[in-house]
Amino acid sequence: MRRMLMENVDPAAVPQRKLSNGMIIPGIGMGTFGNDRYAPREVADAVYGAIKAGYRLLDCAAAYGNERDIGQVLARVFAEGVVQRQELTVMTKLWNDMHGKGDVLVACAKSLRDLKLDYVDVYMVHWPFPNYHAPGAVLTGRNPDAVPFSVEEYMSVWRQMERLVDMGLVRSLGMSNMTVTKLEQVLPLCRIRPVVLEVEINPTFQQPALFDYCMSHGILPVAYSPMGSPCRPERDTEEGDVVTFEMPELKEIAETHGCHPASVCVKWAVQRGHVPIPFSVYEKEYVENLRCTTEDFLTEEEMDTLKRADRNARLIKGKVFLWEEAESWRDIWDGEDERNNCKTTEA
Ligand SMILES: NC(=O)c1ccc[n+]([C@@H]2O[C@H](COP(=O)([O-])OP(=O)(O)OC[C@H]3O[C@@H](n4cnc5c(N)ncnc54)[C@H](OP(=O)(O)O)[C@@H]3O)[C@@H](O)[C@H]2O)c1
Repeated sequence: MRRMLMENVDPAAVPQRKLSNGMIIPGIGMGTFGNDRYAPREVADAVYGAIKAGYRLLDCAAAYGNERDIGQVLARVFAEGVVQRQELTVMTKLWNDMHGKGDVLVACAKSLRDLKLDYVDVYMVHWPFPNYHAPGAVLTGRNPDAVPFSVEEYMSVWRQMERLVDMGLVRSLGMSNMTVTKLEQVLPLCRIRPVVLEVEINPTFQQPALFDYCMSHGILPVAYSPMGSPCRPERDTEEGDVVTFEMPELKEIAETHGCHPASVCVKWAVQRGHVPIPFSVYEKEYVENLRCTTEDFLTEEEMDTLKRADRNARLIKGKVFLWEEAESWRDIWDGEDERNNCKTTEA
């Protein structure tokens, strides 16, 4: 059956997730990183279309350079009565150049001003170190100012994040781009614990150890690049990278369901229990990404096939954040990818 393009999805039909602090959020959200390919206005227009189509969760970040445009869209959807503020979950992130003492409040206030909001629902630390790169950066050597992760540095940022909750500017806190190794070091020190962890998860890179760790510590994994980020910046590509949409297991299941492999990525994520935040500026794509969570579910057998299809192949490597003494981008991830490989081989 051919569907009308603007056929909306009932937000009540979209799976919901309960966070460890009691907040309820949608089981799928809309990404807003234009990947250096789409202008802020284009991304904001897509956010407008997405909210009208039924999305109720947005993943924003100061670093994406489009919060002002998205703020105009938010003001518009509230004014038009498309949605009320309390029906929308807005997540945003502290960028790496605002880790200093006193910076976090300034950064949060700027995001709130740009987004035209009184509070955000989840405020995350984008990367666990203050290593900065300019938007659209290409890889030309290492930044001499870049430093490895330090518990002390991270916790000085986290203390400032906690104060934002106390001040009512932020409903809850999140982390991003952490590993089990890092979480083990900082979680016992948190007065207010993170309710979400945003990391790369897709059928190509499933992160089972990190996923299980989060689930057993009351932290909901939010999956960035849930489609395998086919159009990610060149700085994050390497020869031999797996193309998620080309995985035979994924293609076969997509064929059975008569859908695009993108829909299988989303269905798999939602049925596994983490929250995907796919990005697209195309109405046909972002509406389908939402709709596919409400119908034609994957069978247990298909879920199992996809579980076994994990390539443990990280796509977003973060090379641009490397400090001088680091041996490779794997150091950013504490060597956990290799340990997962060993476990897979041993199993
Ligand atoms: N916390 C972090 O450090 C971090 C890092 C990366 C991303 N993120 C967040 O995660 C979001 C998503 O990640 P991402 O943008 O890297 O990757 P992604 O969502 O895996 O991939 C996005 C691309 O997939 C294609 N796509 C989406 N839906 C499709 C569909 N239904 N059919 C066919 N193709 C489809 C689109 O390509 P075309 O544009 O060519 O159509 C789109 O550009 C970002 O927007 C951002 O909000 C966070």
